[in-house]
Amino acid sequence: MKRLDIIPMPNKVTFLGGQATVKPDEAITEISPVLGEEEYILTVEKDGIKLIGGSERALFYGRQTLSQLSGECPCVKIEDKPAFPYRGFMLDTVRHIFSLDEIKKLIDAAASVKMNVMHWHLTDDQGFRFFSARRPEAAEKGSVRKSSNFGKLEEHGEYGGYFTPEQMKEIVKYCADRFITVIPEFDIPGHTSALIHAYPELSCTGKPLEVKTCQGIFDDILCAGKDETFSAIFDILSDMLEIFPSEYIHIGGDEAPKKRWKECELCQKRMKTEGLKNEEELQGWFTNKIVDFLKANGRKAIVWNETLKSGIADSSVTVQMWMDKKKLSVDFANKGGKMINSEFFRYYCDYPYGMTPLLKTYKYNPVIKGIKDKSSVLGVESPIWTEYINNFDYLCYMCFPRFTAVAETGWTEDKNKNAADFQRRFRIYSELLEEIGIKPAPPEDWNPTVFDRLKKTGSFFSGALRRNG
Ligand code: ACM
Ligand code: ZN
Repeated sequence: MKRLDIIPMPNKVTFLGGQATVKPDEAITEISPVLGEEEYILTVEKDGIKLIGGSERALFYGRQTLSQLSGECPCVKIEDKPAFPYRGFMLDTVRHIFSLDEIKKLIDAAASVKMNVMHWHLTDDQGFRFFSARRPEAAEKGSVRKSSNFGKLEEHGEYGGYFTPEQMKEIVKYCADRFITVIPEFDIPGHTSALIHAYPELSCTGKPLEVKTCQGIFDDILCAGKDETFSAIFDILSDMLEIFPSEYIHIGGDEAPKKRWKECELCQKRMKTEGLKNEEELQGWFTNKIVDFLKANGRKAIVWNETLKSGIADSSVTVQMWMDKKKLSVDFANKGGKMINSEFFRYYCDYPYGMTPLLKTYKYNPVIKGIKDKSSVLGVESPIWTEYINNFDYLCYMCFPRFTAVAETGWTEDKNKNAADFQRRFRIYSELLEEIGIKPAPPEDWNPTVFDRLKKTGSFFSGALRRNG
């Protein structure tokens, strides 16, 4: 039977008859201006292999295909280009830190399935892991928490660390060599306890605040009424822009409670002087100030979907949808905005397979109901948050095969996807992951039975929430 054992499944495959022995290094390559930036044509015949790509990037993708065809394979012509321009994964290195070597393994895995974005979550309540030369205390003080109490996962003693500019540049280069863009995230105005620990004057109350030791959503956020908040943000962002050349910078915007802003004289004064109706609009105004700063520096902002609640977010932002009951992301996209789909119940890898089985992740169509024009969905991104994940093997167990399923959705047109065949191919592709040093979840764990699903989801949440009980 003629079939290909590769991931992601290419979009057009023509079998030419016969078998060939593929030695990827022997391919003759050519760049053609007729093809798109990410498009390639690969012909494998008995007498040789030809790879034509629209760019060096496209040739790289063709080589990824070729390396998975290595050895005996059917003679074939593959004409291929991605379903979506944005195909990413997100790594939270705040709740737990992973070494550069471990991060590089994830990057290798992402590159092998033609992902092109690594979204790097660098700042949050439990640690500030981006070293800013202009604001050194942010990392020096804000990266250390006194202990870790993430539900069942309790770790005694100080936990800290941050990434130096040299280390971050090393990751940027490692990614660039694999045609992956690193998008750093500086999450503001909420999720900023660690930054406020270093600079208490940036909060509404100005009171000392500890770096958080548990998960959650916390009331103390950056004060929108103080000009010094923006000086600090611009300093940190200026350093970020020097390290990360990406067109997009992620500025968070999720889960920012408005309690302090409601009580703060300066925030209330800001709302009056700017003619803002409520605190949601204040977040919109806050975001737009950062967006303007990024624009002036030739960059664009990505924000989590909560930012749209203000109704006044700059139309140039790209929204990352994760949990959006009111479908504001869909409305935004239908008015000409751009959206990245990271749907919580499908693409979040930090929840057990019992809650998010592989097939649920794989079968999800990111062009969700209500979207009028597919091109408003830039693409897909699968996040891994690490409150409950403190070692690389467990991280890999949670992310694989799910990252790979999202990568296939990003590349392979919906009509060319096949869930059963993906699961078959993943078993073969696992060998490549193991060579990288990644151990995926075993097949028996991918799609638990309904009974197991209830049991595993229940035990996960009782463990996760124990801290609060
Ligand atoms: C998020 O999961 N808070 C974006
Ligand atoms: Zn305030």
